[in-house]
Amino acid sequence: MFLRPYWYVACASAQLGAAPRAARVLDQDIVVFRGDGGRPRALADRCCHRGVKLSLGRVTGGELACGYHGWRFDGGGACVHIPSLAPGRRIPERCGVPAFPCVEQDGYVWVWLGGGEGAPPPAPSIDGFAAHRWDQGSVEHQCAALKGLENNLDWCHPVFAHPWTHGQFYIALLRGLREQLLEMRVTPDGMTLRGPVREDGGAPGGRSTETLLSFTLPDRVEVRSLGGPSRRIVLHFVPTAPDRCRMEWLVARALPFGPRVRFRRDEPAILRQDRLLLESAERTAAEHGALGEHHVEADAPTLLLRRIVGWAARGEWEQRRASLPERRVVRVVS
Ligand code: FES
Ligand SMILES: [Fe+2]
Repeated sequence: MFLRPYWYVACASAQLGAAPRAARVLDQDIVVFRGDGGRPRALADRCCHRGVKLSLGRVTGGELACGYHGWRFDGGGACVHIPSLAPGRRIPERCGVPAFPCVEQDGYVWVWLGGGEGAPPPAPSIDGFAAHRWDQGSVEHQCAALKGLENNLDWCHPVFAHPWTHGQFYIALLRGLREQLLEMRVTPDGMTLRGPVREDGGAPGGRSTETLLSFTLPDRVEVRSLGGPSRRIVLHFVPTAPDRCRMEWLVARALPFGPRVRFRRDEPAILRQDRLLLESAERTAAEHGALGEHHVEADAPTLLLRRIVGWAARGEWEQRRASLPERRVVRVVS
């Protein structure tokens, strides 16, 4: 059900200081900590002595010491010290905990839980990360990651879901709802949705509010404004359980002042508006089962995203991609 052979955000770089940190990713409890030279490391969050969470321990000399009896583990998960052992006694054979590939890049600590032979591919970079200053945050969602992803390719919801927080709400307030054309495209690792466009795909002209939304497997959506003031949002919906996820958000600040990344503990109103709606839909599904959905043309981007994720989960994305039209224009009112 999870898309395993991918890198996932374990936490923001700003959240990983001197103490170890628990992170749930793909229904697994992991602990991340800064090992030798501050390099992030990821281990299973379960001490091999008596099962206590290693995230309750502390980091000493680049090693992670369990908070119960002080057994120490290196960045590769090997147990390297047991304080209770008398001189001359040896650490048991193969004593240790599973370790996972872990890297730090573009404001995040990434972990690979996909297994496989050899080294995993390079962690995904965030295009243009160094060119902006960002606000960053992390919000637990009581809904499946797929719901969060779908929501961000759902062009027609902001007018209703985001009163006073979203540009589309204000535009509709001033001009009323209008017919618009949107362009969906399939990409090698996901899809894009651009709008509003002309029938031939060109920009609409005038004072453009053209926006490009993109989905990249397994869990990233990005929002970019193509005309008007530059706007850049990067979201990751990290699955923490089949019906839970953690949204890691990055929003480029308009003014080029302050630190490169500023971590915020609050939940911006616009994100909270989405979360409450998505959690409501998740509860409905849990209480009443799949009642079915009715779809209209405006749901085409959401349904395409759902299909891409489904194929990727079954390992069929590469071969099925060719069956999709590369481009499709969708007509909506928004
Ligand atoms: S439970 Fe971890 S050292 Fe004993
Ligand atoms: Fe939204």
